[in-house]
Amino acid sequence: MAKACVIGWPVEHSRSPLIHRYWLAQYGIDGAYDKEAVRPEDFAAFVGALAEHGYIGANVTLPHKEAALHLARTADEAAIAIGAANTLWLDADGHLHASNTDAYGFMTNLDAEAPQWNEGLGAAMVLGAGGAARAVLYGLIKATEAKIFLANRTRARAEALAHLFRPRVEVVDWEARNAALGTCGLLINTTSLGMTGQAPLDIDLTALPQDAVVADIVYNPLLTPLLVAAAKRGNPTVDGLGMLLHQAVPGFERWFGVRPEVTPALRAHVVASLSPEAA
Ligand SMILES: NC(=O)c1ccc[n+]([C@@H]2O[C@H](COP(=O)([O-])OP(=O)(O)OC[C@H]3O[C@@H](n4cnc5c(N)ncnc54)[C@H](OP(=O)(O)O)[C@@H]3O)[C@@H](O)[C@H]2O)c1
Repeated sequence: MAKACVIGWPVEHSRSPLIHRYWLAQYGIDGAYDKEAVRPEDFAAFVGALAEHGYIGANVTLPHKEAALHLARTADEAAIAIGAANTLWLDADGHLHASNTDAYGFMTNLDAEAPQWNEGLGAAMVLGAGGAARAVLYGLIKATEAKIFLANRTRARAEALAHLFRPRVEVVDWEARNAALGTCGLLINTTSLGMTGQAPLDIDLTALPQDAVVADIVYNPLLTPLLVAAAKRGNPTVDGLGMLLHQAVPGFERWFGVRPEVTPALRAHVVASLSPEAA
């Protein structure tokens, strides 16, 4: 029986088992998908003994994504550019390989939910400069010629990302983020603000064109305060759950040999585990 897992610390919150077990059942595959809570100091040893633990591969979540990249014998272009891996697999010789499917997940979902997003796009605004922002920037830069603004509370982190992706990304002061929305046809929140238990994202959408697509990668709650505010003024919105579902596709195919589909039924299955809307 083929077995994969998600490795994190903590890992209890991970929705990956919900997704992969759904597909295993749907496609009638004799496989399993577990959760493994592994401390940072134990991660290298755990991954080094992945086969002994009975696994052919794994998803990797916080705080192990950078370590996963460094432990792999090979990594794909996305993982190298993003500086982190979220998908691991062993080959027939027992060698470990790594990929990062977050950019693929974000862009595939954006294309599916707002196919017009790149039509005549002049500029996009990305908020946040953490690990997720790096994946989103990597995906965006490959997909559009538009100018990309990046604003982050800690400007130095935005500068570091802009340097990595130079000359495509222009840093905007966090305080100037509202005014800079005037030319943007796409706004993406990659900060953790708006998540259950966190403050809402502090943003004034007044300057944002009404046809601009607003995407949030936070998926719990599904409708973040940003998405609620954007929908209220008529902007098309894209929630963060689609990214999570689509990023799981390449790993499942790699481990279990079937390219799975992201369907409304899968989405409903995962939505049932989320808070419906921001309090
Ligand atoms: N949908 C998906 O599949 C998916 C995938 C990955 C991540 N995510 C979500 O994306 C979010 C970010 O993840 P990450 O890994 O990039 O986290 P991270 O590396 O910790 O980055 C967090 C970001 O949020 C900003 N931030 C935090 N508190 C803030 C505040 N009070 N005011 C302004 N900015 C604040 C940080 O700014 P500073 O630099 O100033 O601290 C930083 O830019 C999380 O909610 C995560 O669950 C979703």
